[in-house]
Amino acid sequence: MIRHNNGTLTIEDCPAPVLAERFGTPLYVYSRAAIESAWRAYDQAFAAFDHQICYAVKANGSLAILQLLARLGSGFDIVSGGELARVLRAGGDPGKVVFSGVGKSEEEIEQGLAAGILAFNIESEAELERISAVAARTGRTAPVSLRVNPDVDARTHPYISTGLKENKFGIDIHAAEALYHRAAAMPGVAVSGMDFHIGSQLTELDPLADALSRSLALVDRLEAAGIHLEHLDIGGGLGIRYEDETPPSPAALAERLGPLLAGRRQKLLMEPGRALVGEAGLLLTRVEYLKPGHRDFAVVDAAMTDLLRPALYNAWQGIETAEPVDAEARLYDVVGPVCESADTLGRERSLALLPGTLLAIHATGAYGFVMASQYNARPRPAEVLVDGDRAHLIRERETLEALWQGEHLLDTP
Ligand code: LLP
Repeated sequence: MIRHNNGTLTIEDCPAPVLAERFGTPLYVYSRAAIESAWRAYDQAFAAFDHQICYAVKANGSLAILQLLARLGSGFDIVSGGELARVLRAGGDPGKVVFSGVGKSEEEIEQGLAAGILAFNIESEAELERISAVAARTGRTAPVSLRVNPDVDARTHPYISTGLKENKFGIDIHAAEALYHRAAAMPGVAVSGMDFHIGSQLTELDPLADALSRSLALVDRLEAAGIHLEHLDIGGGLGIRYEDETPPSPAALAERLGPLLAGRRQKLLMEPGRALVGEAGLLLTRVEYLKPGHRDFAVVDAAMTDLLRPALYNAWQGIETAEPVDAEARLYDVVGPVCESADTLGRERSLALLPGTLLAIHATGAYGFVMASQYNARPRPAEVLVDGDRAHLIRERETLEALWQGEHLLDTP
């Protein structure tokens, strides 16, 4: 769906240079077909189970993308009232929404209760108490799922690993049992599930299988004690290919977990983000200047403000020319215009470049635009969704006025 054609990159049937000309750069471009086929592959992989995909909105929360997924029947994993509002605005079904995150405010809890979400994924005892109090006060019942921290090493980047006991996420699996008993007796709360999420960009299945086994052992102990769970949520985390990784497919995941799940009555939920949208997106950027010297720099019009992953995690993102160029390849450091040395999108990349050359930064559909900022007063880029030979502008490039929206000059001398 995203491929090279005689040196020209095309997204479905749209050549990247045409998109760049029409919408300007930097520009996020997504393939509708790639997103839909990734979602369907996940869904089909788990067809043998009563299941519900709850797409992790944080990976890419653009309304049109949420709308596409909602139309496919997706649910959503949210981590804020803002994400809930986005899901509702895009036509998502609140009855398929799970609410994760360690710091839910009272207002956010009220929002979730009013919308009638599927479950609150509880991350601490204090949060459980707050949810009980808010629900009882507003005369509602909160369906709750305890996010257990199974203490397994997800073997991914430490910044995106979440399932070890030193991480802030979830409830120590050994303490969870007692908390389930407390929850079962609390006003305003209905115990409905269990969940875990051990990390992101996982390239191995063993940690997930371990986490599931540990969680199922707890499900069984609860069952024996008369606490019956309706769902089991295995989180997200399947990796994608950035460089040469070989992440397991959803089918391999289902095959690995299947035997553990056989005969269970709980509905299976999952919260994939990156695996659904990551490889469906790219960031188009143009070379502004070539700056030869001790190192050869290619200064491009995209920056860490548009794509933070390389600066924040030292993440490697593929960078390629998106149009034919008549130049010699050299090793370039691809850098943005922001006044920070960390504003490097790729180091020592072999590229044939001229000033003005169009480049594509690959696998930027997840944790790309969502992590963009306006640092250095840079308007955030536009986003386009390609559908065959049609390109829909799903987010306009930010205007300069938008940079100071909501700000006030002093009206006193
Ligand atoms: N569920 C929960 C509770 C999560 O915390 C996350 C991601 C997901 C699901 C989705 O994980 P995924 O399937 O996308 O791996 N900004 C980082 C990634 C942070 C992930 C945070 N949690 C990056 O750019 O690599």
